[in-house]
Amino acid sequence: MVLKQMTLDEKLTLLHGNGMAHASQWQMPKTHLANGAAGYVEGIQRLGIPPLYISDAAYGVRDSGANGRYSTALPSALGATSSWDPQAACKYGALIGREVRAQGMNMTLGGGVNLTREPRDGRTFEYAGEDPLLAGTMVGNLMKCEQAEYVIGDIKHYAMNDQETGRNIVNTIISKRAMQESDLLAFHIGIDIAHPGAVMCSYNRINGDYGCENSYLLRDVLKGEWGFEGFVISDWGGTHSTEKASAAGLDQEQPMADFFGPALKQAVEAGKVPMTQIDGHARRVLYAEFLSGIVDHPAEKSVVDVQGGFDTAQQLEEKSIVLLKNENAILPLDPAKVRSIALIGGHADVGMLSGGGSAQVDPPGGNAIMPPGQGATHWQDHIWFPTSPLKALRATLPSAKIEYNSGEELASAAALAKSADVAIVFAYQWQAEGMDLPTLALPDNQDALIQQIAAANPHTIVVLESGTAVIMPWLDKVAGVVEAWYAGSSGHKALANVLLGDVNATGKLAITFPKSDSDLPHPVIPPLAPEDKGAGTGAVDDRAHVESKYAITYDEGLKVGYKWYEAEHKQSLFAFGFGLSYTSYAYSGLTVDSHARAARFTVKNVGKRAGTEIAEVYARLPQGSDESFKRLAAWKQIALAPGESQTVTVAIDPRVLQTFDESSDRWKLATGEYEVLVGPSSDNTPLKGHLQVR
Ligand code: BGC
Repeated sequence: MVLKQMTLDEKLTLLHGNGMAHASQWQMPKTHLANGAAGYVEGIQRLGIPPLYISDAAYGVRDSGANGRYSTALPSALGATSSWDPQAACKYGALIGREVRAQGMNMTLGGGVNLTREPRDGRTFEYAGEDPLLAGTMVGNLMKCEQAEYVIGDIKHYAMNDQETGRNIVNTIISKRAMQESDLLAFHIGIDIAHPGAVMCSYNRINGDYGCENSYLLRDVLKGEWGFEGFVISDWGGTHSTEKASAAGLDQEQPMADFFGPALKQAVEAGKVPMTQIDGHARRVLYAEFLSGIVDHPAEKSVVDVQGGFDTAQQLEEKSIVLLKNENAILPLDPAKVRSIALIGGHADVGMLSGGGSAQVDPPGGNAIMPPGQGATHWQDHIWFPTSPLKALRATLPSAKIEYNSGEELASAAALAKSADVAIVFAYQWQAEGMDLPTLALPDNQDALIQQIAAANPHTIVVLESGTAVIMPWLDKVAGVVEAWYAGSSGHKALANVLLGDVNATGKLAITFPKSDSDLPHPVIPPLAPEDKGAGTGAVDDRAHVESKYAITYDEGLKVGYKWYEAEHKQSLFAFGFGLSYTSYAYSGLTVDSHARAARFTVKNVGKRAGTEIAEVYARLPQGSDESFKRLAAWKQIALAPGESQTVTVAIDPRVLQTFDESSDRWKLATGEYEVLVGPSSDNTPLKGHLQVR
């Protein structure tokens, strides 16, 4: 009904942005109306259609500082995925949704679900790991609950935007089958759960065509096969054409109107773009607006629930922390025995690290490692939140003497470590949009620091603050390793609770930690040619480089993460799905119901503490398939008191058993006997059974 009332100009109004606040290169006459938003689309007042105020919000709402506001930082998305808890993902999304609205915004740009095909990708912390079922389920639940707060939801970056190097020009080359069974499957599962109003197309090319003018991805798969009814929004500056992009299925250009403003009008008037196509674009934007409720429930500025945000951030981080090594049960720290602790490195006296780029959330009071008043956040600064592990540990363990050394000087750090009962080294690996890591090894001489501390004190624990996997040449020398990710607004408290055992460790890795870069499918990310190198962020000005030949062939195909390691017979450092607990669990009694496609098994808590085990179910395709790896097919969180056992039944998701047949463009479920494997991690599946598909 609304569409029928609209003039051509009004329809076109919905199809492009009007600049980006706080970005000098993307200003338009109406940008000042944008309420500080990353994107602003004018409304149609006479029809009651509100403007779109579009905010970045990967692990919390961006630009709060610049807008004179405050927002909660949650653990990084990859961290939160380590909870394997869809309800936790829902809480995560709901909090962000509420805070987006509180800033007077009505659309979010969170929802990153690109698979961790390249763990050095500078944005892995914004995504949900390497498995399509886990990533799609977690991001789907996150965005479903975010959109339920009356903001338009988004899932991004569609698709194959798996590295940042040359992201605006790179041509990613991959077969349809591999793409469908890996990255696209994650998108599909996420979109099915969340029904987001929008999907953001990516900067890169896929098999020749840019993401935002790729008719296979947008028209055939997203809108065709999957029946997506919302709108496709371009990544910022990711639109490259008018007619081609419109025909391929791009609905809205952001943040400017270079192609979908006057140029699109001219194309319509010249008969080059049919009116039905314009109607289609506008209808999709309207659909998302009504679907999300932003028409019926206009955004209203309000005050954020700061304490509630702290509590949620803490609960989510407590579920996200992954205990990787715990020799001789050094953890949890025993207050009766530990009289002194040396905290070393990582600015652990003042704060914890956060991830950068458009995901950056502003810490209250500015960057904690800067003098007060000088800590405003800038693009690609390394930002520490004022979440001091030193303070949190002193508060949790008042009986111990806890001292800090920056670790800059190895000898004095080692001396402090030697004098203490326990040494905890805080090691960091900063990541941001617009760059990739040169290596998964720790930067800034931290490996040497850890070796020195471990040599000085056998009770050395390493706490990692990273957005991705870390290589650990010192692993054999230390007693404990805890992965805390980018830990969010209450990360210090969550960490202290896990170190002290007030909270049991339950998280499990959503990505593989390899032994070295050389084990990765691409030991080195192909470097850009000198003429393709852009200034600053490593992103290049695409328009000047349309003829670039920069390409990457994803010949590992659908073997992303653990599938690669298994197929290539490479041992990882820590496998996908791995994570220790302060108790232990025993698995038994697997039966598989082929008719119901379900696995039934028992898990018992055989240790002394209560805990929640994440039980993982994998499947192998029947003999005769060309696969030599297993696929995650289901999981279940099981909370168990000491001595308690539970028998659970979990449905095996048929989507991960299917294969995509390129010749018919169809999914197929092979008949035969599938092996079903159950256990605590992808490389430890003690229970075996069989599923018959006829
Ligand atoms: C990023 C998007 C982001 C957009 C708006 C782009 O550089 O790739 O993820 O939503 O900017 O800030």
